[in-house]
Amino acid sequence: MYKFIRSLLFLLSPETAHRISLAGLSRFSGRSADLSPTPSEDAPINVMGISFQNRLGIAAGLDKNGAHICALAALGFGFIEVGTVTPRPQSGNPKPRLFRIPKAAALINRMGFNNVGVAALIANVQRANFQGILGINIGKNADTPLEKAVDDYVFCLEKVYPHASYIAVNISSPNTPGLRELQNVAYLDHLLSQLKKTQMECAKKHQRYAPLVVKISPDLDAQQLKQLAETLLAHRVDGVIATNTTLARDPVRQFKQAKETGGLSGKPLFELSLNTVTQLGHHLAGGIPIIACGGISNKAEMAQMISAGASLVQIYTSFIYQGPGIVKRFL
Ligand SMILES: Cc1cc2nc3c(=O)[nH]c(=O)nc-3n(C[C@H](O)[C@H](O)[C@H](O)COP(=O)(O)O)c2cc1C
Repeated sequence: MYKFIRSLLFLLSPETAHRISLAGLSRFSGRSADLSPTPSEDAPINVMGISFQNRLGIAAGLDKNGAHICALAALGFGFIEVGTVTPRPQSGNPKPRLFRIPKAAALINRMGFNNVGVAALIANVQRANFQGILGINIGKNADTPLEKAVDDYVFCLEKVYPHASYIAVNISSPNTPGLRELQNVAYLDHLLSQLKKTQMECAKKHQRYAPLVVKISPDLDAQQLKQLAETLLAHRVDGVIATNTTLARDPVRQFKQAKETGGLSGKPLFELSLNTVTQLGHHLAGGIPIIACGGISNKAEMAQMISAGASLVQIYTSFIYQGPGIVKRFL
């Protein structure tokens, strides 16, 4: 059935298809009375002090504004991550900015954090009144200079804290100029000390500890990754999401879309993300849980990520290619 719907959707531009699909999902599954995640055989799974019913989540960027939380939850995901949200609304990069490479089950995007801003996202989250596990992914506005980036993250963290099960700090999108530089130790040290300080203040104020998770790029070399892992451990970050999209093009070089600027996701990203998770698993040695993301398209690949050291996984592109039925096939 999804194959048929997909053949129609793929006649549209990727962004239009995306919008229509989410609206359709909200219409048909968002009203479902049952928003509880499908329990896996090993449930409940305790990660970062949170009890998960299964290890499969939807990655950030699909529901940037938190407008489809219940529709996604009704599909059975163990957790939902919304965002990336920035302090002020912004329109993102000019269209077209999302490209399909169907033969490689891949996407290239340069969306650039198009979103309604943190206040409107919170209003959506409150309206959803979702009782499951909700991650909120935060970022900086494109016109905020890198030296002031910390202010944007702290601002978003304070706002979203009472509404999030965990907060993901996105310093790895390739589509906001300079953002990935925040992964360099000098910036990261400063960013993480400010964010941990804010997290502690929020925990006290709201009488609840919400974990802080950092989302990293698959394009770091071995030395950078080692340094980054050491910095995450030093700051007692609660979790790490590996990975965001890649700037690499080697696995899709034969396709004309490969020349598009942006981050590559889907099947061609899997090996790179698996490699990142493996190295991270080695450096972190169980000290910080890993949430694997990048090209995971079936249960066997999910198991590979877990063997490499991940506790949870997230998907985005395989959901676009395989449709809502994918969740049941994973569990
Ligand atoms: C169209 C699109 C938009 C995305 N937007 C975001 C975003 O706003 N924030 C973020 O952290 N990741 C974003 N991502 C990255 C995904 O969350 C994920 O890390 C990446 O796509 C790799 O997973 P996948 O291969 O399963 O898609 C986006 C990905 C795509 C394809």
